[in-house]
Order: sequence, then C-alpha cells, then structure tokens
Amino acid sequence: MKIKTMKKGDEKYILQAAKLLVEGFKDNWPNAWPDLESAMEEVKECLGEDRICRIAIDENDNVIGWIGGISRYNGNVWELHPIVVDNQHRNKGIGRQLVKDLEEQVRNRGGTTIYAGTDDENNMTSLSNVDLYDNLLDRIRNIKNLKGHPYEFYLKLGFKIIGVLPDANGLGKPDIFLGKRVVDWTK
Ligand SMILES: CC(C)(COP(=O)(O)OP(=O)(O)OC[C@H]1O[C@@H](n2cnc3c(N)ncnc32)[C@H](O)[C@@H]1OP(=O)(O)O)[C@@H](O)C(=O)NCCC(=O)NCCS
Repeated sequence: MKIKTMKKGDEKYILQAAKLLVEGFKDNWPNAWPDLESAMEEVKECLGEDRICRIAIDENDNVIGWIGGISRYNGNVWELHPIVVDNQHRNKGIGRQLVKDLEEQVRNRGGTTIYAGTDDENNMTSLSNVDLYDNLLDRIRNIKNLKGHPYEFYLKLGFKIIGVLPDANGLGKPDIFLGKRVVDWTK
C-alpha cells in the first residue's frame, strides 16, 4: 500500500474514490453521499485550491481509501474531510496511516491543527437522543460508543473531543468535533 496525492485528470482514481464514499457512508450517514453523482462532486471539490487530497493505493493500483483536508483559519487549521477506507480493508491500520500522512501534509504547509466533525445521526453514541444543552461537559466526558461510531477512531489517533454541535442533523442528532495539534507546543 502506498499513499499519494490525487490530481485533476486521475479519472480512474476519482471514480474509485467516489464509489468508496457512497459505499462507506450509506449505512450510518445515508444523507451524506446518497449517489455517485454527489460523491463525484465531493471528490472533485477535494482536488481544488487550498485542499489536500491523498489516496491509499493497493498493489494493483486501486484506491482502497482516501482522505481530504480543507484549509481553514488562513491555513493554521485544516479540516479533515472526508476519510473513508474500503470495507474489505478496514481495521488494518490504513485509516491511521492516512491521518498520519495528512498530519505531515498539514505540517509541511505550516498548519498547527487538524479537526474533524463526525455526525451521530443514528444513535451510535451516548450523545445522541439527549438534550446536550443540559450538562454538556459531563456528557462529553462520559461519552459511550454504542455502535462503533468513528469518534473513537480519532481518539485512538490522539484527537480530543473539542466540542459538539447539538441538533446539527435534527433534534438529538449532533455533530461531534475532534481536534489535534500536529506541531510541538512551544512557549
Ligand atoms: C473510520 C475509518 C476511516 C477507519 O479506518 P480503518 O482503516 O478501519 O482504521 P484503522 O485500522 O487505522 O484503525 C485505527 C484504530 O481505530 C480503531 N477504530 C477504527 N474504526 C473504529 C470505529 N468505528 N469505532 C471504534 N474504533 C475504531 C481501530 O480498532 C484501531 O484501533 P487500535 O489502534 O487499538 O488497533 C473506516 O472505518 C471507514 O471508512 N468508515 C466509514 C466512513 C467513516 O466513518 N468515516 C469517518 C466519518 S467522520
């Protein structure tokens, strides 16, 4: 497996990356990329200015995962959006390698921080179906993963929960924000 930049004109990779988005999100985030057309649009946006778009390729030159970064706050902060790994290749460390690679890309561009928003639309965590305006910080501190929600993937990679947006996807369906500093803290 190797990781490289996806570029405009890489039509085979673009199609494969779009298919991974549709497949990867359909079960738990059916509104994210419901069809190939919306996914193709997302992949093409990822190839634009102020973006990072990196793909994991297997030995047959097929895309088995990819990650995007969007420049925010004048490039100090990069939003990780999206990340997906092919179902058949999950739990083998590919997601971890993609995030590590993004961290390096962000550092090389002078960024300090990566954050990601990860929706819970499907009662996957203890932050769903509750009033997050009530006792928010305790609820975040005591978060439980009920159905394999990916916030825990980010925690394993050194991210911290830095906030939530209550009701982002309808009442009781929050967005959960995780962040990580990718440079040393120097005073
Ligand atoms: C989330 C995703 C990118 C992880 O990719 P992956 O290649 O399977 O992840 P890795 O194998 O690198 O996992 C790294 C660690 O995170 C853990 N992890 C991965 N996904 C997890 C999940 N959904 N819940 C809990 N832990 C998870 C792994 O067990 C592993 O732990 P370990 O270091 O103790 O062994 C992949 O599951 C995916 O594409 N999911 C669908 C799309 C998605 O959820 N994207 C993120 C939405 S914001």
